[in-house]
Amino acid sequence: MKESIMTESLPLHGGQLRKIANHFGIPPAQLIDFSANINPDGPPKGVVPALRSALDALSSIVDYPDLDEISLRQALARYVGVGPENVAVSNGFVPLLEVLLGTLSIRSCAVPVPAFVEYRRTLERCRVSIRTQALSDSSGLRCDLDDLLKISCDAILLANPHNPSGVLLNREALLEFVQKAAEQNRHVLLDEAFIDYCPEDSLAGEVKRFPNLIVFRSVTKFFALAGLRVAYALASERLCKQMRMVVAPWSITTLASMAAEVALADEDYRDRTRQLNRERRELLQDAITRLGIRTFPSAANFLLMKISDLDSHQLWERMIRIHHIVLRNCANYESLSPGYFRAAVLTETENEKLIQALKTECHH
Ligand SMILES: Cc1ncc(COP(=O)(O)O)c(C=O)c1O
Repeated sequence: MKESIMTESLPLHGGQLRKIANHFGIPPAQLIDFSANINPDGPPKGVVPALRSALDALSSIVDYPDLDEISLRQALARYVGVGPENVAVSNGFVPLLEVLLGTLSIRSCAVPVPAFVEYRRTLERCRVSIRTQALSDSSGLRCDLDDLLKISCDAILLANPHNPSGVLLNREALLEFVQKAAEQNRHVLLDEAFIDYCPEDSLAGEVKRFPNLIVFRSVTKFFALAGLRVAYALASERLCKQMRMVVAPWSITTLASMAAEVALADEDYRDRTRQLNRERRELLQDAITRLGIRTFPSAANFLLMKISDLDSHQLWERMIRIHHIVLRNCANYESLSPGYFRAAVLTETENEKLIQALKTECHH
């Protein structure tokens, strides 16, 4: 029943480097992975030493993790600016979304598309009927919030910044949208997986004011801890309590929660990451634009490009075979025509390799 991770040799997700390396017969270490949006500078410097000393103590792998994840929830609450009673945690976004859909008995959900592929997969698995709003290329893939409210549904699931475009919705407009949704008795499921790059635009601090707002966040990308799996949801005290009762027990390992706590405490790392990402993204975007390739205004650590005058599957393969660069070919994103590619913002050297490769491939 499980479908292959490669659909017509396209991975379902970014970050499938081993699979791609195997498929193309190239050692993984020789590939540059632009397909997963993970901080290229790695986790905060305290994380690995903390993991090493935790392993020395043995109890971190012998004993069960704290069932209530008190310490992790306190660290997340401090980081976001809410109370630990407003936090629920699990080992990824998908299990949290599943729990929420069940807890709220959501039957129908509106989703602007293109969107993260797991939205549809999870909603379908949970038997939620999906009402899509197609984002148009001409509006720059920017979601029309008023139109979204016209769709009849129990809940609305959307990302800010948007994936795959990186487009950021205005905070005030989103707040008004949550308020209107509340008046219509609808829940807003807001995926802020990339909001750490622009935290001033987060609505996480508003969950106490709006019981219909649930914000999903993650430490996987910004803190480069994707392999350790820690995600969290922020919501009213009542809803979080219900969610915590349903989340699978011990879903986060002791080592993962400890690593996340160490990462969250490093304020310099946050500032540096945001500044470096902004500088690198601007340089990359300027260079790509100069090649005549359209990009979208991104607030996140990735850029969506439109290269529609070449065969997109061939281009994706040539980038791998010839340049050892793995892009996210967005052809399997719902409602997106072929020709869209997403690239993570990596280090200056890596970004330069991407620019040179695009120059070779897209030279007319
Ligand atoms: C928009 C979006 N939301 C959620 C996730 C899942 O994040 P996590 O690693 O926390 O499960 C991703 C991962 O790619 C994503 O792109």
